[in-house]
Amino acid sequence: MSETNHIWRLRKRPIGDITDDVLSFEEESIPEPADGECLFRLNYLSLDPTNRIWMSDMDQYMPPVAIDDPMRGVVCGTVIKSKNTAFKEGDIVSGIGIWADYQVASPEAVNLLGDIGSIPVIDAFGTLALVGPTAYFGLLDITDPQAGESVVVSAAAGAVGSIVGQIAKIKGCHVVGIAGTDEKCQWITEELDFDQAINYKTENVPEALQRACPDGIDIYFDNVGGDILDACLKLMNLKGRISTCGLISQYNAIEEVPGPKNYPMILMQRLKVQGFIILDYVDRYPEAIAAVSKWMAEGKIKVRQDVTDGLENALETVKKLYTGANNGKLMIRVKDV
Ligand SMILES: NC(=O)c1ccc[n+]([C@@H]2O[C@H](COP(=O)([O-])OP(=O)(O)OC[C@H]3O[C@@H](n4cnc5c(N)ncnc54)[C@H](OP(=O)(O)O)[C@@H]3O)[C@@H](O)[C@H]2O)c1
Repeated sequence: MSETNHIWRLRKRPIGDITDDVLSFEEESIPEPADGECLFRLNYLSLDPTNRIWMSDMDQYMPPVAIDDPMRGVVCGTVIKSKNTAFKEGDIVSGIGIWADYQVASPEAVNLLGDIGSIPVIDAFGTLALVGPTAYFGLLDITDPQAGESVVVSAAAGAVGSIVGQIAKIKGCHVVGIAGTDEKCQWITEELDFDQAINYKTENVPEALQRACPDGIDIYFDNVGGDILDACLKLMNLKGRISTCGLISQYNAIEEVPGPKNYPMILMQRLKVQGFIILDYVDRYPEAIAAVSKWMAEGKIKVRQDVTDGLENALETVKKLYTGANNGKLMIRVKDV
């Protein structure tokens, strides 16, 4: 094989926003798979808010990426050499890999993408590899939504949030989404049938929530933490449920982040507040994939992907997540399949 590999390595831990010097883009040789491994070529790299967590050494759910190691990422690729009977040349795999054109993997790290029916690979990977199951289990398993209940979701036009709101609609809930631009608010109400949307950058969130949920909030799906969590806590109904999926408003924080002022509402309203990491649900992935892909095929779940071409653009592109510049699932495309 004559081609060179391209690979992003972590060079320093970010302080605050991700800066250009935290990763370096290197030319290296293409690795050889050991016995039990396969070599695959990257098709798509998922860019996720958790990339910022993995770059840092904050308390987290996996070991942080070590300095000088390849940057970790959720990947989709085509097998080009295999020393494991679980994979053969041409198979499409997805799982946890690295930001590199060519990489080796074992069956513990990647799985076959499997039967995706008529869904294009890019949509199947973008939606079913991570964010669809996150929305599915984070909403249904943790908050058990019932028809008629009011559900609020933050980062509502994002990859996870947009699916959460659509599943809540399928379950017959009154759904309010919070997002950071008028275009995003329009997309979730007009295209995705959310009942209402709040632009948290231009509206007074506590007042807008009061108007949107005059009978209180039964379920809050939290993607952001911070002031929006506080505003939702204030309006939670008795026996309300909060699914703590992400805290993106504080991933880049330099100062210590204050706790929610309305924490006492957890006691007063007997709330259930539960965090989760999607890796907890790996054994039940087929259930989420079957349900979400069926809803996609029926047109009940619509997705939008925000795709940038070229692995060399990964560092610049990942920054979009923390300013809201992404419109849908953020991905790098190296080679369509
Ligand atoms: N628990 C798990 O296993 C798991 C798995 C996947 C993702 N997550 C979490 O789910 C959340 C959404 O992830 P995603 O992949 O779907 O990303 P995304 O929503 O597609 O993109 C992130 C969005 O967050 C919003 N945002 C950024 N900074 C914000 C701030 N300070 N305040 C409020 N909103 C802010 C932006 O939208 P606006 O324009 O609306 O501001 C941005 O577009 C993240 O917190 C992520 O960590 C958790």
